[in-house]
Amino acid sequence: MTHNTNASLGAAQDGGRAKYFHGRDALWNKFYDILKDAHRERGGTIFLVQGPPGAGKTAILHEFADRAEKTGLWDHQRIEIACMYNPRRMAAALDGSAYVDRTVLSTGRTAMVGVSQGVEFTREKHAREAAMHRGPSSDEVLRSLTASSTKDLLLTLDEVQNLSAHKASLERRTAIMDVLDIIRNAACGGPVVLLAGGLGNSADVLGGFGMSRLFRDCLHNIGVLDAIAERKVIRDWIVKGGEVGHKVRMHTLNRWIDTIAAETDGWPQHIHCFAPEAARWLRRHGSLMPDTVPEAVMERGKADKQAYYSQRVSSIYPPYRIALAALVKRYPSGAGWDMRRIMRAFQEVVLPGDSSMEVFREAVRNGVLTETQGLYKFPIPSMQRWLLHHYGDRG
Ligand SMILES: Nc1ncnc2c1ncn2[C@@H]1O[C@H](COP(=O)(O)OP(=O)(O)O)[C@@H](O)[C@H]1O
Ligand SMILES: [Mg+2]
Repeated sequence: MTHNTNASLGAAQDGGRAKYFHGRDALWNKFYDILKDAHRERGGTIFLVQGPPGAGKTAILHEFADRAEKTGLWDHQRIEIACMYNPRRMAAALDGSAYVDRTVLSTGRTAMVGVSQGVEFTREKHAREAAMHRGPSSDEVLRSLTASSTKDLLLTLDEVQNLSAHKASLERRTAIMDVLDIIRNAACGGPVVLLAGGLGNSADVLGGFGMSRLFRDCLHNIGVLDAIAERKVIRDWIVKGGEVGHKVRMHTLNRWIDTIAAETDGWPQHIHCFAPEAARWLRRHGSLMPDTVPEAVMERGKADKQAYYSQRVSSIYPPYRIALAALVKRYPSGAGWDMRRIMRAFQEVVLPGDSSMEVFREAVRNGVLTETQGLYKFPIPSMQRWLLHHYGDRG
């Protein structure tokens, strides 16, 4: 368990599993349908979960993988981008302990020995092919392990937008495309599903690797948690994390949840700024709940939230932040802006010589603006307010 109990900014990016996971039921149902189809048809697909930092992508990858494994039909392995172009990494990630000679890997003499000697092939042809080349490629490693596996294989790959860094190298790009291809085309010799998580530009990045279009059911932009799930997460942190147990009084608990939920907007990262802090406070104070949430807890949470916003916009060129704030000021978003409206607004406010399109792209790339059904908006309402407050007067 890699869960980080530190409520600071880093916690949202620690890549761990959520301690008290709730919500995302509709998404799970869709994903479960995909798993069932893949199992029945012995097929494969790529299921992409996109969203800004702190939306809960990594948590989803962990949770869904756990649930898939609980069906008893699926084995889960976590891969990294490097696995897709480095066959040794792929073999190690797929935990092919029966196939990979780990002593050979760890001596670092793999280049001399050749991976083919460490990987046991199920078919003669593969073995011969592999011997002819330097060794099997990542897609061949994946195929040979799938073909010999008794279970279906679920792969998870986080931060998939980072694939863009490997587009320029022909060798890597080809290797990555080969892996994606055999998954998408159900050519692994058994059911293989890749559950990928990444920022809002991930689908575009995959597009650059030949995944010209992900099927409608396989691309999902995630946003806030619904109010019920949000309250359940906060409650679990207080009751279980704070170890209040039978000492809890219902109306006090509800007041605590109300107070925290008023600050969190359903945003997982925000919940994580306050709820673990409340739990820690309770444990330090004998798990006895005062009538109201201690000021120290709320202050700490608010400071963490601010730090998150500052960090989120820090990668955006400062004049562009002002342009975004000006956009919000002139055109309050409501349901969201369509792209033409945004471009027109940016043309009015962006400094001469700057490209409106570039402001827009950068905001989308950083997940400061996210798209749903053709409309763009700030995924977290309070971030929009924060931006206005900090940059609204500078335009
Ligand atoms: N559905 C959820 N239920 C409970 N906690 C969640 C949920 N989703 C995310 N979290 C928590 O919120 C924080 C941010 O989530 P994370 O998965 O790291 O976001 P992302 O990967 O999108 O940046 C983490 O601390 C995570 O444990
Ligand atoms: Mg993450």
